[in-house]
Amino acid sequence: MTDYQPGLEGVPATKSNISFLDGKQGILTYRGYRIVDLAENSTYEETAYLLLDGELPAVAQLARFDTQLREHRRVKYNIRDIMKSLPVTGHPMEMLQTAVASLGMFYPNNVPVQIRSPGDESEQYVHGQSIRILARMATLVAMWQQMRIGNDPVRPRNDLSYAANFLYMFFNAEPDPLVARIMDTCFILHAEHTINASTFAAMVTGSTLAMPSYVISAAIGTLAGPLHGGANERVITMLEEIGKPENAKVWLENKLAAKETIWGMGHREYKVKDPRATLLQKLMRELADSQGTVSPLFETALALEEACEESLAPKGIYPNVDFYSGILYREIGIPPDQFTSIFAIARTAGWLAHWREQVSANRIFRPTQVYTGYDPRDYLPAAGR
Ligand code: COA
Repeated sequence: MTDYQPGLEGVPATKSNISFLDGKQGILTYRGYRIVDLAENSTYEETAYLLLDGELPAVAQLARFDTQLREHRRVKYNIRDIMKSLPVTGHPMEMLQTAVASLGMFYPNNVPVQIRSPGDESEQYVHGQSIRILARMATLVAMWQQMRIGNDPVRPRNDLSYAANFLYMFFNAEPDPLVARIMDTCFILHAEHTINASTFAAMVTGSTLAMPSYVISAAIGTLAGPLHGGANERVITMLEEIGKPENAKVWLENKLAAKETIWGMGHREYKVKDPRATLLQKLMRELADSQGTVSPLFETALALEEACEESLAPKGIYPNVDFYSGILYREIGIPPDQFTSIFAIARTAGWLAHWREQVSANRIFRPTQVYTGYDPRDYLPAAGR
């Protein structure tokens, strides 16, 4: 047996052919395709198909998949009623976990979720559920944005792409084509990332043959933490605290002296700059060029990255995906507490791909432990303790 590794660092927990990352060279691929190529040439719908199915779709296959996604955007009124009863002060990730968990109650089934042969009843079920859940994730996040400010949710539009419809429902306004393309690219960049904490949570839950609403709600809860997807929201608070680029260096020195975490920096796997951070930074630049102005937050982030270059880069700590995504979302007008929900929408494609892979060759996860407690000892009645 191997030694105990805190955080399971370096311990392979599965075999997977969904994505690959080389943390020394900063390479990330989905099903063998470089993330940079997908970001430049693909769409979220096509990338989701690739992740779920294993191959890029032919024209007719993509058209069918896209149509199915569009057809399943609406959710039942009962789900909306549940959401209505939630406090508007709650975090959108809590709403999302609740709403996704409740989907299972409104769409019950008794199909086994263990795939034994390609095309069997279980595989068809997994495929069908994947489309339904993926289609509804964006709807739920956008519905809540309107509902929590006292409006009725905006009805999804079938004539818009996944990303454009999300923006339309979220803001109740026609999306700008550049912003829709940026959102689409952000969805692609966040869609999958090997066996990270939330994906692992999805796999562990899936390995018990639980229904997909349990699988995805477990993953949502895991993504919410600040060491994982919740970091993007904290990056904005951090940049606002720094205030202006000139303050970045001293602010960083003080934080590091106090042994505090710099949000959006560092990664278990990457020892160079996360390739997704580089691509998001490029998108931020593109947006700034189109607006003819550079946001103060972006300038502060650039100054902070430069300051980190001196103190953290020698330890292999560089910007990760969350460093620039929040600034981009903020510029688009998305409130910071919705950043992680957007990450969740995108990552659902990866979670579902891993769920399918898990239940196609399943064995329940049941690791062991290094016990550090007492040897067996005698029970003492309360009066004698
Ligand atoms: N700020 C300051 N120091 C950091 C750091 C950060 N963001 N990330 C790592 N470090 C330091 C640790 O303090 C530790 O230093 P030490 O060896 O002197 O004790 C060392 O780097 C190793 O860090 P560790 O926490 O053991 O790495 P990990 O692989 O367990 O954790 C993260 C990885 C992502 C959780 C961690 O880098 C982090 O907390 N980052 C900030 C949160 C974040 O942005 N998360 C999103 C990830 S996509």
